Amino acid sequence: MRLAASIADLRSMTEKAIPKALFEYVSGGSYEQITLRANKAALDAIALRQRVLVDVSERSLAATMLGRRVSCPIALAPTGLSGLVHSDGEIHACRAAQAAGIPYTLSTVSICSLEDVAAAVDAPFWFQLYVMQDRDFTKSLIERAAAVGCDTLVMTVDLQVQGQRYSDIRNGMSVPPRLTPGNALDIMLKPRWALGVLCGKRKNFGNLAGRVAGVEGVRSMAEWTARQYDPTVSWRDVSWVRSLWKGNLVLKGILDPEDARRAAELDIQGLIVSNHGGRQLDGAVSSAAALPEIVAAVGDKVEVFVDGGVTTGMDVLKYLALGARGVFIGRAFLYGLGAGGAAGVARAIAILRDELSVGMALTGRAAIAEIDPGVLAGDCSIVD
Ligand SMILES: Cc1cc2nc3c(=O)[nH]c(=O)nc-3n(C[C@H](O)[C@H](O)[C@H](O)COP(=O)(O)O)c2cc1C
Repeated sequence: MRLAASIADLRSMTEKAIPKALFEYVSGGSYEQITLRANKAALDAIALRQRVLVDVSERSLAATMLGRRVSCPIALAPTGLSGLVHSDGEIHACRAAQAAGIPYTLSTVSICSLEDVAAAVDAPFWFQLYVMQDRDFTKSLIERAAAVGCDTLVMTVDLQVQGQRYSDIRNGMSVPPRLTPGNALDIMLKPRWALGVLCGKRKNFGNLAGRVAGVEGVRSMAEWTARQYDPTVSWRDVSWVRSLWKGNLVLKGILDPEDARRAAELDIQGLIVSNHGGRQLDGAVSSAAALPEIVAAVGDKVEVFVDGGVTTGMDVLKYLALGARGVFIGRAFLYGLGAGGAAGVARAIAILRDELSVGMALTGRAAIAEIDPGVLAGDCSIVD
């Protein structure tokens, strides 16, 4: 893993290690991928202010997220099907995050179940909830998350209708992955992945399998899941979830200041400015463009987090300077996972941490609390 100098290196390693259909599922965005590109382009367009002759020998990246101390303000975002990128992927990612002292968020549509992950780690993790059409099942997910000791529920609100990735249609991306004449050669060239995932125990939706009455076969499970995203989900459902959940509640997928204001009126503790990594509304604004106005609107009421497009520690620094309390990473850790399981995720986190630390030093900041808009050159509080 030491050979990987950057997240880009981990990405190349993963591309070589896992089937093409899966790599494109991870790396891709919806439709023409305009928002996927915009997330990164907006970060790239922000310039940092180089400052010199400040003693930065004693730097600390420690911070708090939702009242908990973290070793640095980075968290792993919920990503469905991580357990197909690497066998037992969610367990590996959670272990790596906890060893690094940062939060891990398990997706509703994970391969390892809530119970699988809880049994494999020692500390609480966060759980991401999709409110599904089957409200009884949704309620049971919330109860299971509480029962295994999750302390934070992340309710994703930007996927009541699913955006489409063209590559998934072309590749016939399926859960569980199937060996077909079209992908046989590709899979044969990835024997390690095939041995781990195809021959492994867990390759279906772990939180759902065996839990939904009348849905048994693996095929019907995937179809059931796709049908369960609920276009009726509304603000009322946030109150319903709140009534069922005693811990921290975070809304993920807020991109508009008006929605942020409405969210902050409810009893929630945080929100994540996100366009789902460019996987939902193609043409939506980048996270960096949306963040400053949302921080200005509600930053004194709830903790505002952000995700989208992070590939370096300097990206993390820019989001923090734009006002985020913490930064979630999706693909960056999945590339580590595909490249080398828990060690790969640990490497991805270490790369971002080290780069953040250097970025802080060279902008004259020794502590996370010192990162403010002054870190940015020019008027970067508004990003087009
Ligand atoms: C492969 C993949 C699967 C994802 N699955 C989920 C999911 O199950 N739930 C969710 O709320 N967000 C999901 N997301 C979105 C991430 O939580 C996050 O918003 C996004 O990855 C951030 O962008 P980045 O990948 O550029 O860091 C997924 C993202 C990816 C790349």
